[in-house]
Amino acid sequence: MNILGIETSCDETAAAVVKDGRYILSNVVSSQVDIHARYGGIVPEVASRQHMVSIIPVIKEAFKNASLSWQDIEAIAVTFGPGLAGSLLVGVNTAKAISAGRGLPLIGINHLHAHIYANWLGEKEPEFPLVCLVVSGGHTDLILMEGHGSFTLLGQTRDDAAGEAFDKAARILGLGYPGGPSIDKAAEGAGNSIELPRAWLKGSSDFSFSGLKTALLRLSQSGMISDINQAAAGFRAAVVDVLVTKTISAARKHHARQILLSGGVAANKLLRQEIVRLSHVPVLIPSPGLCTDNAAMIAACGHYQFRQGSISGLDLDVKPSLSIV
Ligand code: KG4
Ligand code: ZN
Repeated sequence: MNILGIETSCDETAAAVVKDGRYILSNVVSSQVDIHARYGGIVPEVASRQHMVSIIPVIKEAFKNASLSWQDIEAIAVTFGPGLAGSLLVGVNTAKAISAGRGLPLIGINHLHAHIYANWLGEKEPEFPLVCLVVSGGHTDLILMEGHGSFTLLGQTRDDAAGEAFDKAARILGLGYPGGPSIDKAAEGAGNSIELPRAWLKGSSDFSFSGLKTALLRLSQSGMISDINQAAAGFRAAVVDVLVTKTISAARKHHARQILLSGGVAANKLLRQEIVRLSHVPVLIPSPGLCTDNAAMIAACGHYQFRQGSISGLDLDVKPSLSIV
């Protein structure tokens, strides 16, 4: 079964065709990162206008790369939240128009569920029960999955999301936008002599990163950072330490057979390395390109939702602040 996936929740316009929820036939991502970089962050109005320019060419390219036509598609999956309202509207309205025009089923997708389903696009199929850490620009959620479509929230951030913390830290250190990749790069090969605090929130699976960010800001304001790379390394180590320790302890507690990572921050080199090194169970992590926003994960998630009969009507509305459960 071939599903067309459409993703426009933030600053990537993406379309992909995925077969049987696991095999990528095409995966096109048009990033707006260069457009927003000059503002140091995403400008919502600019993002939605750019989605309108890109969406049709991106869908056409997805068909071309897969060497398929409309007759080969059986359903359309589209992100309806969470995300920027104006951006989500472009994808959802495009998908609705195609669904009505072509008579194809429409599947509304929770972007955070889709991040988890990026793991079904790898070589090995995930096994339940599993614990998944979803770490993106807006979310840090620890999830227990006991079957398809079953999501139990074990913990979440009480303040900043992990990706947001990376982005803010990069701004403090004068590193480029987006912050995650630039901190990751600066930290590579730098010594770890700057020790920053970790908020353990003992006994809870929740996270907190705002104190860490403030600690970095204080160091910077008091002129105590002489080496930006070392500060980046210290910050990255502190975030990764907490993410890895809490994920593994949740996996032990819930007798998970596997640990999954997902979301943009799962592209982080140290996080990938440390979770594999320290976990007692197998770890699955999407390739870096499937960690950040893409439409293949939307189509993969759509496949499993479709199999469970979860289909949307043409009254599907955008939900900018949709949560994971
Ligand atoms: O999942 P995503 O592409 O978009 C959202 O749904 O939010 O995640 C974007 C976030 C940004 O905060 C970005 O800085 C972070 O993921 N990110 C990283 C890395 N690559 C992207 N954070 C740490 N290390 C990376 N290598
Ligand atoms: Zn995302």
